[in-house]
Amino acid sequence: MKKEKAFVTTPIYYVNDIPHIGHAYTTIIADTMARYYRLKGYDTFFLTGTDEHGQKIEEAALSRGRTPQEYADEISGKFRALWDEFDISYDKFIRTTDAKHKAGVQKAFKNMFDSGDIYKGEYEGHYCVSCETFFTDTQLIDENLCPDCGKETRIVKEESYFFRLSNYQEKLLQWYNDDEKCVLPKGKKSEVISFVKQGLRDLSITRTSFDWGIKLPSEMNDDKHVMYVWLDALLNYITALGYGNDEKNMKYWPATLQLVGKDILRFHAIYWPAFLLSLGLPLPKHIAAHGWWTRNGEKMSKSKGNVVNPKEVADAYGLENFRYFMLREVPFGQDGDFSQKALIDRINSDLSNELGNLLNRIIGMSGKYNDFKISSTNVKKYHQKELERVMEHIKTAEINLNDMQTNRFLEELWKALTIANQSITLYEPWVKMKEGESEFALATVAVVANILARVSILLHPVMPKTTQKIAKALNFEISNDSYNNFIQNDKILNDFIIEKVPPLFPKVEAELLSTPQPSLKEEKTEDKVEDSLITIDQFFETKLKIGTILEAVEVPKSKKLLKLQVDLGEEKPRQIVAGIKEFYTPQSLLQTQICVVANLKPAKIMGLVSEGMLLAAKDENGLSLMRPEKTKISGSSVG
Ligand code: MSP
Repeated sequence: MKKEKAFVTTPIYYVNDIPHIGHAYTTIIADTMARYYRLKGYDTFFLTGTDEHGQKIEEAALSRGRTPQEYADEISGKFRALWDEFDISYDKFIRTTDAKHKAGVQKAFKNMFDSGDIYKGEYEGHYCVSCETFFTDTQLIDENLCPDCGKETRIVKEESYFFRLSNYQEKLLQWYNDDEKCVLPKGKKSEVISFVKQGLRDLSITRTSFDWGIKLPSEMNDDKHVMYVWLDALLNYITALGYGNDEKNMKYWPATLQLVGKDILRFHAIYWPAFLLSLGLPLPKHIAAHGWWTRNGEKMSKSKGNVVNPKEVADAYGLENFRYFMLREVPFGQDGDFSQKALIDRINSDLSNELGNLLNRIIGMSGKYNDFKISSTNVKKYHQKELERVMEHIKTAEINLNDMQTNRFLEELWKALTIANQSITLYEPWVKMKEGESEFALATVAVVANILARVSILLHPVMPKTTQKIAKALNFEISNDSYNNFIQNDKILNDFIIEKVPPLFPKVEAELLSTPQPSLKEEKTEDKVEDSLITIDQFFETKLKIGTILEAVEVPKSKKLLKLQVDLGEEKPRQIVAGIKEFYTPQSLLQTQICVVANLKPAKIMGLVSEGMLLAAKDENGLSLMRPEKTKISGSSVG
């Protein structure tokens, strides 16, 4: 029989930031689903990776004096290392700077162009670099703020290729209508539908104002343009399967499940299916959007220093406990709050009291009554009713999981555990033993073991290692075979001797992390303090020089930027574009001296080349340029 296939994806993560709880959440849900499909015996492919192009990454790299590629290599490596440490079972980790991805994207662009969906025009509008998104005037808040992240947008006017998104409005509405579960959860789907109904405008899909992106296919003979980062990024879901190259893994397309955060649902539920339709490819089966995490009720941000570092949480509380907490605590699609208190409550009550304790009770009772032997022979004779009730919950649990209701899935499994715990209280095997009804008492112990086995199998995708330990104690292995036997075919465990294992979930008495975590405060997001120390040689890699400002003018249409001509004692002055307009008038800068980073790779800012960066300090009272105490010869080194 041909195996059913499953293809699960996470978004690919921007490399301008190190992994935080939000990234871990998406990845852990996706990992859980991939493990679930494997458990059911599906031929499964699980994809994750990093999104490395675009203006945001270019600027993040340049501001650290690094090339975008160096910077992307470093941060992409951190994502991969964390997923490896977290035992994320990905089959491929794609990087958008991979040569094969680039070739696949160019192929897709050409195919979309050939099918008449791409044309050349001129784009003028507002662009949010942080979200890498274009907005119309009416979408902006206070005339120039991004409606998604609240940051200032930039006015961009440039030649651009457009994708005929407007052509796909009706087809998309048809898809939402025909395929009930194409976008999950339902509430999010309704938001997408009403957005599309407002009308779709064609989408600008190339940029000329910066370089860090994939060039157009050479056949287009248009070197100026690089691809819009979202076109490049979305296509990863098929280039990873070999689209435009070696297509053998394209057999996994269409995706079974594409996980995204609510902030990027629009790209996945509108642009992405439109691109696929243009390419003549089938649409994904489910696009599922989760909510956002806050910390102790507050939005997380670097400046507040309250960003939850998933590695620190996993190290302190245990990776699988953390996985359980994330999936159990929040209804999928809604925002959730991280607090150590909530995590500790889950560990102590759900995991320790209800799950771990059950295994201890089975070990204790079987040891006392039957030399640790467990025999299921009479389970169906005495406890058929309990098994049936458990199977009802197990069935509902699976339905919930397939609908991405991860919290309800776990709730149902815990209802099955409650039946096991209640059976012990209700049937009091210790009394039965005394009254000479040992057959019944041993059947009660065995039914509890059987319930625990069934729950462990379905819990396995969430807590892979812990559930294998439980299974080992109960003398079986979690696999597709055991899933078929115990979940699909109502089989019961063979007779066995239970293994004595130490408690699986020791109680947590007090918070294990200090709040907020100091290593993530302010701008120190990238590295822990000790990792960020540099040698003197590294310091001198940055060439700092004194410059004299010869000219200063405003950059038209920019609220922040001034264009300066700065004498660094070189043949000709350097042009530097700096975000200081709110703090200095051009006139006040003339003939004053500043401190300049002189060996930065030139960057384009709003279409203007900037050949250096000036140093300044900023606090809540404003910004001050760093200047020499006494006038120095232009070009003097600083250090
Ligand atoms: N690079 C794009 C995705 C391209 S996919 C073709 C991107 N990257 S991201 O790194 O900014 O975000 C990745 C995921 O992290 C998103 O799904 C986003 O929703 C999620 N989260 C970021 N912060 C989050 C929280 N505070 N809470 C939960 N998830 C959040 O977008």
